[in-house]
Amino acid sequence: MNQPSGVLDGSAADPGPPLLHADGLNKSFGPVQVLHDVDFRVYPGQVTALIGDNGAGKSTLVKCIAGIHAIDAGVIRFDGAEAHIDDPKAATALGIKVVYQDLALCENLDIVQNMFLGRELTKRGVLDEHAMEQAARETLASLGVRTVKSVRQQVSSLSGGQRQTVAIAKAVLGNAQLVVLDEPTAALGVAQTEQVLDLVKRLAGNGVAVVLISHNMNDVLEVADRVSAMYLGRIAADLPNDDTMTRESLVQLITSGRAGDIGLTEGITE
Ligand SMILES: Nc1ncnc2c1ncn2[C@@H]1O[C@H](COP(=O)(O)OP(=O)(O)OP(=O)(O)O)[C@@H](O)[C@H]1O
Ligand SMILES: [Mg+2]
Repeated sequence: MNQPSGVLDGSAADPGPPLLHADGLNKSFGPVQVLHDVDFRVYPGQVTALIGDNGAGKSTLVKCIAGIHAIDAGVIRFDGAEAHIDDPKAATALGIKVVYQDLALCENLDIVQNMFLGRELTKRGVLDEHAMEQAARETLASLGVRTVKSVRQQVSSLSGGQRQTVAIAKAVLGNAQLVVLDEPTAALGVAQTEQVLDLVKRLAGNGVAVVLISHNMNDVLEVADRVSAMYLGRIAADLPNDDTMTRESLVQLITSGRAGDIGLTEGITE
């Protein structure tokens, strides 16, 4: 079996116990095995970047954690206890929120309506617009969002970065403990990317465990506390983002599952 060799245990920057620990996850779609003995850990107050080439299995792993795909084998522990995340509701109940790349916001609704879609607050049987507005404002403020002028702005009038911000705020509303962001800066320009990366850092600063899926190694190096690299459905490395981590080593892990002494042993084939 191919096991990661030389994987650092993070003792240089001990992150404490993980909030989520997916251990030995296997997942196949029909005859195709997509996840192989995946060991993935996410820590509170830290940004864990999940990197890997197209098709490496990042979204599949996240969907297992989010209760969208059932796992074939393995254990998911959350806050130290075994969790059976059999459907998205179970994930939500644990405080696991995923912001998917398409964001799933409604263009024709305003920010408040989007944030409370399907979980509107009511008072004596009518919508409590005041309470929802207030909660939307507070959530945006807690994330340090200053570029959104009014929470009553329609989403169709927002920039890409502002939309991403609203999608993240929507995910955080309520009891978010673990937030997964799938490529949040993929479609953004330089300034908007910086805003979203700032938001990612603040989210972790608020104690949330953040998973950042990204193909942009500069973003990863800038905000990640740790990096988990996937290669052909396997975790090739789980490393703290310290001085030794470079763009080149990350690219090598992504493209070959190995960088120097770190990574999968020889013999991995598609
Ligand atoms: N529902 C599904 N049915 C069958 N195969 C699937 C399904 N979902 C994903 N796969 C396969 O699993 C593999 C991993 O896909 P996944 O979407 O997890 O990759 P990824 O790392 O998120 O890639 P990307 O960076 O392109 O988003 C791919 O080969 C894909 O074709
Ligand atoms: Mg994906």
